Amino acid sequence: TTTGNVASTDLGFKAVATSNANEVVVPEGYSSQAFLPWGTPLTGSYPEYKADGTNTGAEQEQQVGMHHDGVHFFPIDQKAGGNSSSEGLLVMNHEYINQRALLKHTNTIPVFDENGKQNGWTGVKDLNGKRISDDVRKEIAAHGVSVVHIKRDSEGTWDVVFGSPFNRRITGNTEMDIRGPVRGYSKLITKYSPDATETRGTLNNCAMGPTPWGTYLAAEENWHGYFKHDSLELPREQARHGVSGQSYEDDGITIKPASSRYDWELADSQEDQYIRFDVTPGTGTAKDDYRNEANTYGYMVEIDPFTPESKPQKRTALGRFGHEGVIFAPVKEGQPVVCYSGDDSRFEYIYKFVSSKPYYAATAGGYLLDEGTLYVARFNEDGTGDWLALDLDNAEFKAKVDAAVGTTVGDVAFDGFENQADVLLNTRLAADIAGATTMDRPEWGAVDPNSGQVYFTLTNNSNRGKDGYDGVNAANPNEINRTGHIIRWSEEGNDHTATGFEWDIFVFAGEQGTETVVDDQVIVSLTDDNIFNSPDGLWFDYNGRLWIQTDGSDAAPYQNNMMLAANPETREIKRFFVGPVGCEVTGVVSTPDVKTMFVNIQHPDGNWPDATDPRPRDATVIVTRDDGGVVGA
Ligand code: FEO
Ligand code: CA
Ligand code: CA
Ligand code: CA
Repeated sequence: TTTGNVASTDLGFKAVATSNANEVVVPEGYSSQAFLPWGTPLTGSYPEYKADGTNTGAEQEQQVGMHHDGVHFFPIDQKAGGNSSSEGLLVMNHEYINQRALLKHTNTIPVFDENGKQNGWTGVKDLNGKRISDDVRKEIAAHGVSVVHIKRDSEGTWDVVFGSPFNRRITGNTEMDIRGPVRGYSKLITKYSPDATETRGTLNNCAMGPTPWGTYLAAEENWHGYFKHDSLELPREQARHGVSGQSYEDDGITIKPASSRYDWELADSQEDQYIRFDVTPGTGTAKDDYRNEANTYGYMVEIDPFTPESKPQKRTALGRFGHEGVIFAPVKEGQPVVCYSGDDSRFEYIYKFVSSKPYYAATAGGYLLDEGTLYVARFNEDGTGDWLALDLDNAEFKAKVDAAVGTTVGDVAFDGFENQADVLLNTRLAADIAGATTMDRPEWGAVDPNSGQVYFTLTNNSNRGKDGYDGVNAANPNEINRTGHIIRWSEEGNDHTATGFEWDIFVFAGEQGTETVVDDQVIVSLTDDNIFNSPDGLWFDYNGRLWIQTDGSDAAPYQNNMMLAANPETREIKRFFVGPVGCEVTGVVSTPDVKTMFVNIQHPDGNWPDATDPRPRDATVIVTRDDGGVVGA
């Protein structure tokens, strides 16, 4: 439903230089402006942002959250088949928080590393070791998703539509349903939901994916860190993800470092909404405590931005892992829905979901994501690849599972899967058993609207090839891969439901002179115009230009994180945008006409975007061409 200059994916702008300035840099003939910074009033009483940190938890629940990440623009008339480029719903994730920026400074204390060097800040605790409940409430509220109704006026200025019923905050405490095969599974029973059908909140929402039916899927990435498990024995569905509480031996003494990322379970009010982050089993059964709370996280969460009263739905058929995001293949009437999702952790995998039910535009909806087959990718050494089903009804997978029973898989003494819900709850373990290819941290994916090829960023993996870790493979060929690469593949017959594919490496990131070689020919050799490291965000615009965002080292020669544009056919790459100091550049989308681009700046660490504000504020940057033309053309 989008239009543009589909004839060309040429890059018509002059590349910008690397930069370490505390400002956004865009090419000559372009302008940029910060928009929707953290704390922007959004709902309810529209509480004003206060630069002294005194906004309350209740106020943060009515303001834009922190650490902007994946973002999508839904044209306001999309449901009616329209294509507005001047009004829409901007929906974005808030991945995590900076407690020093969020809270009153008197409510934070410095954290020191083992060498006595200050390494960040945390919230204060009282003499009993408890945190201030309203600080915890504010932190939970700064996570999640914002739905923002925005409109451009006749002068070209974008603003929030105040009072719009579409404006909405979804937080780490919003009620949600569990959907798909894991719904009702005993290992999701909690005191809050004894029938294992509901949970509260979504956390660490990194990238996202718009669905073909006009909803938004938010990914739950590093959710494991929010939970505390204070015992020596973690169940496999927590241990595989690194939920805290693993003990270690030091001088023969067992140390239990059990604590959660922000100590929310220590809120002084000790209400269930806070203590649920302690997943240590109590003395009763699962119905009496929150031992299974972490099992209600790790999913893709569907949000319908056009139905403000709708309850978010965790779509478990897409698997449970460190979901970076999701990208849908183009839909075809009467054919299954297909989407791809990466698990961003070292040596984890890339997945694909194929629905059981066919897509029909007139009736499509989230139910299509509740039944289907989850596959994991094996990248063969010869440039071919296979999708391996993670389904107990698949004979090949069932045989591998049966053969693995009684063996050790990774660190797990494997005793089988109870049922398909158990497979999905332990998606990573199932993928190990299937024989998938360990990757160098799969981040965002993108599907080329012209060729149908699927691209994924592999951001880096500094452990690749080290002692005790997997060695290189053809798809991840660099030992101690600090700078990352972008892989792509074509499904057999350009059919996204196929179980075979052909892959190649689109580009290796790195310093000047880093080469990408195809058939003994150097196709790309990076220059001052396009050196980059740690590709993360990835998006094809509606004309087929590929946008690459970075979250990597900001040391020389790279300087601040950036966004580049690429021509997928020629592999020409040019730096288009550089962010302010300390940030990562993550999340990009445009209006359907590709004349207004929205780019998110996450965790800036200087006084950006307002030099007079003592606090850094994550924000969306609006980029336009001064002559009103198509961005990138
Ligand atoms: Fe949240 Fe994998 O970046
Ligand atoms: Ca991030
Ligand atoms: Ca990311
Ligand atoms: Ca990253």
